[in-house]
Amino acid sequence: MGYDLNMRVWRGDATGGGLQDYVVPVEEGEVVLDALHRLQATQAGDLAVRWNCKAGKCGSCSAEVNGKPRLMCMTRLSMYEPDEVIMVTPMRTFPVIRDLVTDVSYNYEKAKEVPAFAPEPRRKDGTYRMQQEDVERVQEFRKCIECFLCQDVCHVLRDREGKEGFVGPRFMIRVAGLEMHPLDTADRVPETKNEYGSGYCNITKCCTEVCPEHINITDNAIIPLKERVVDRYYDPIRIIARKLFLGARGKGEAMAEQFELKNISVDAIGEALVRAEHYRLLNEPEACESICRDILAADPENREATIKLIMSITDQFFGSANPGVNEPRELLAKLDDEFERTYFAGLICEREARAHLERGQYRDFAYDGFRDAMELYEKAEAISPPNNNNAILRYNSCVRTIRSKNLEPPIPDDRELGLD
Ligand code: SF4
Ligand code: SF4
Ligand code: FES
Repeated sequence: MGYDLNMRVWRGDATGGGLQDYVVPVEEGEVVLDALHRLQATQAGDLAVRWNCKAGKCGSCSAEVNGKPRLMCMTRLSMYEPDEVIMVTPMRTFPVIRDLVTDVSYNYEKAKEVPAFAPEPRRKDGTYRMQQEDVERVQEFRKCIECFLCQDVCHVLRDREGKEGFVGPRFMIRVAGLEMHPLDTADRVPETKNEYGSGYCNITKCCTEVCPEHINITDNAIIPLKERVVDRYYDPIRIIARKLFLGARGKGEAMAEQFELKNISVDAIGEALVRAEHYRLLNEPEACESICRDILAADPENREATIKLIMSITDQFFGSANPGVNEPRELLAKLDDEFERTYFAGLICEREARAHLERGQYRDFAYDGFRDAMELYEKAEAISPPNNNNAILRYNSCVRTIRSKNLEPPIPDDRELGLD
């Protein structure tokens, strides 16, 4: 049954405006956007209101209804009492263009700041593969319709003139979707801390409450991103060690980008190689990696440093900050000896497979990795120097792991994955 709805609608533009009262006849089952369209058609032909799909999918009709950020096309009038005044105002966080239409271009500028998806190279058979649980984890973030209601409600964006410092919940979602993508190789953790301003969010969860796609923005995206930043930059053991041994630092020195790397002399390379090996044996691959980079800066073709760098990077496959397989594979090109190139290519595959196993997932990827490694070890064996059985030793180790862990080949799957 129809009735007369009392509406209060904000009218005005960037120079100012105010609320105007209207009485609009509405029908049962209608939404706020229907009432505004009738208002536009019968009483206020110049009312500006942005919409497209009227199905909750384009994210255009965002506004505030009785002070709460909502999609107007998904807000049923039956949620309110028939005699209740329904107040419709533009999103408060963004500058008004006219009436209910706001300028959301801030969001498009922020979108440009997030580096795009950077997939690892395709596998040898030309495909990419992902575990279903990884697909599901990032799928939640891809439901975003860019309505910017979460940006509107976020007090950090509302309260900060110019919105500098924090990209807001919508783009924390975007970053999380990329950072958690199992095929992505880019590292966005430094930007998450600095440019994107993850520290500004104090987990009030207001953004999660208004999301029409029911994305769990805080628990599933922002908190995991904050944890990654904390793991990287606020490890308490490192902080204590710095305080004990280095004393207080000036605030201006906190930005790593301000420091210049120092060069080592060519004469010091022999000693540096010994130290690099020492740190590897102490299970400190990052320290070994750093020394190898210093050696290669002084002597770019140094074979031993190249090999140690490959080893120290692949040592880190087993940690939470997996550096990815791209760089070690690229380093292989620096090795002149074909046996070494082939043997270490096998080692990279094997170590990647072992890292998959250690994380308790990707058993079929692990199987593929071991098989790739074994193929490379067999090739290396055929060209190995006399009395060098390293390739055989590694081959046998792969065979024993496949047997003891009961690893099996993946089930063939011809489906293509959407990977943008
Ligand atoms: S939880 Fe964080 S991002 Fe979400 S509204 Fe609150 S401060 Fe903003
Ligand atoms: S995360 Fe939710 S509220 Fe934020 S823009 Fe996407 S769909 Fe809208
Ligand atoms: S008109 Fe598309 S979401 Fe409302």
